[in-house]
Amino acid sequence: MRNKLFRKKSIEKLVQESENSSNPLKKVLSVKDLTFMGIAAVVGAGIFSTIGSAAYNGGPGVSLLFIITAVTCGFTALCYAEFASRIPVSGSAYTYSYVAFGEIAAWIIGWALILEYSIGNIVVAISWSSYFNNLLVHLLNIHLPDWMIIDPMTAKNAFLESTQALKDPTILTAKQIKSYQFAINAYNSAPEIGGTKIFFNLPAFIIVALITWLAYIGIKESKKSANFMVYFKVAVIIFVIVAGAFFVDTNNWRPFLPNGFEGVLKGVSAVFYAYIGFDAISTMAEETKNPQRDMPRGMIYSLLICTGLYILIALTLTGIEHYSHFNNVTDPLAFVFEDRAPWIEKIVSISAVVATTSVLLVFQIGQPRIWMSMSRDGLLPKQFQKIHPKYQTPSFATIVTGIIVGIGALFIESDLVTDLTSIGTLFAFILVSGGVLFLPPKIKEKGKFHLPYINGKFIIPLLFALFVYIFRERAMAAFTEFHWNNTEEVLFLVFLVFAASISVLTFLRNYSFIPIMGVLMCSYMMVEIPLVSWMWFLVWMAVGLLIYFLYGYRNSKLNQEN
Ligand code: ALA
Repeated sequence: MRNKLFRKKSIEKLVQESENSSNPLKKVLSVKDLTFMGIAAVVGAGIFSTIGSAAYNGGPGVSLLFIITAVTCGFTALCYAEFASRIPVSGSAYTYSYVAFGEIAAWIIGWALILEYSIGNIVVAISWSSYFNNLLVHLLNIHLPDWMIIDPMTAKNAFLESTQALKDPTILTAKQIKSYQFAINAYNSAPEIGGTKIFFNLPAFIIVALITWLAYIGIKESKKSANFMVYFKVAVIIFVIVAGAFFVDTNNWRPFLPNGFEGVLKGVSAVFYAYIGFDAISTMAEETKNPQRDMPRGMIYSLLICTGLYILIALTLTGIEHYSHFNNVTDPLAFVFEDRAPWIEKIVSISAVVATTSVLLVFQIGQPRIWMSMSRDGLLPKQFQKIHPKYQTPSFATIVTGIIVGIGALFIESDLVTDLTSIGTLFAFILVSGGVLFLPPKIKEKGKFHLPYINGKFIIPLLFALFVYIFRERAMAAFTEFHWNNTEEVLFLVFLVFAASISVLTFLRNYSFIPIMGVLMCSYMMVEIPLVSWMWFLVWMAVGLLIYFLYGYRNSKLNQEN
């Protein structure tokens, strides 16, 4: 059984299979397209929405978190690049794990990637809907019925919270009163069926349907649309940085860490979410003209560009507005200009709609290609590898992705799924980084990316010692006041034990510095995500394993070949 669970695919065989496919995907993407696709996937709901709460908790110091997260993603991107240059097929982290760790790990990653792509896209669709409604109201004066633009859980929670808050309106600002009243009206005006109030997020569903159609009819059309959207959103972000500089009051940057570093760390999930996406390029390997050279470049270029933009945006935002004003602000980029320059606010809102559309598109393209790879390996039914004869896209898998994301976007609450997306993606990042250590040595070839080997023997244990020194108070408190109820600290202790073990192993086995840093930094980010999301994550993984044992284990191609 053990042998079966860890059966591996060979790199040669994978490449051969994709080359021999009777109905291949269309090879149209260049390094520029890939970089654009990367930016298209990265810059979206994170920077336009979730950064608000991170800035509130962390103050101007949140810009440090953008740097730390960029470094974390940088280590992982280099590992993705190494895999991508060796295995130019479409499955991303799923395929890489099949080669490095074997089938069960590959399945687990494939299943975790659904969190990144499909569940992540639900968050993006909801964010799209909220900016889109904003535009409808402010630009066109069109008001959709409230119950048609909100999910049931958010509507109910907002109703309960607002009723409570309005009991004492004297302590509220006019803006707060307006938003609470909006929530109450939305709830009361909803139609009822059999005593149950009906709510759904129609715009979120419609945009998912449209994007699914675009992903269905062709990669070329998708590429053109993504390129256009990237030009637009990057231009607007640069404009926000430049125009925003005129409104910056440097007093707002003092104190830089108003809630200490702990406050900054509260934003881990939101900030990490803003970076997710550069890895999605790796699902387009089979549509890339020269994947072994261009995919690594595309990932690294897009990550570098986004990092620069993000750090500047974080500093600009917290420089314009005092961090304490970002409480519950879901449209921070527009918010800072609301009273200062309303015309900029409108431009930002239009750009947010465009930005989130492009994120939706890339993930909606990525998910079916991962399923296609899983189906080729026999872990999913055959329909998932079906390629449309005319459009040359994985048609069935694209439609299933559309249905899952569309229905989710209609009814699911956004907050619930943001953490889940981050945790699932971090998990995939850890396995990809760790997976590099298990790859066979390769001969350097000109024009292909090659991950440099830096011996981690001394640097990793030293960095671990430094980490413990910096967090000595937290570590001491976690040890001395240990209690199972203190879940955050339990996770922190687990991380310390894990990192200590990895440091010892690195010392003994001379592991490569870059992948080990990817593993450690992503694990650290993971433990900063609240335990409740971990619970959901574990439930999700348990369901995945059950499906594997019921279907994939027996139907795996490797099983049949043996
Ligand atoms: N990074 C992507 C976004 O922020 C997922 O929308």
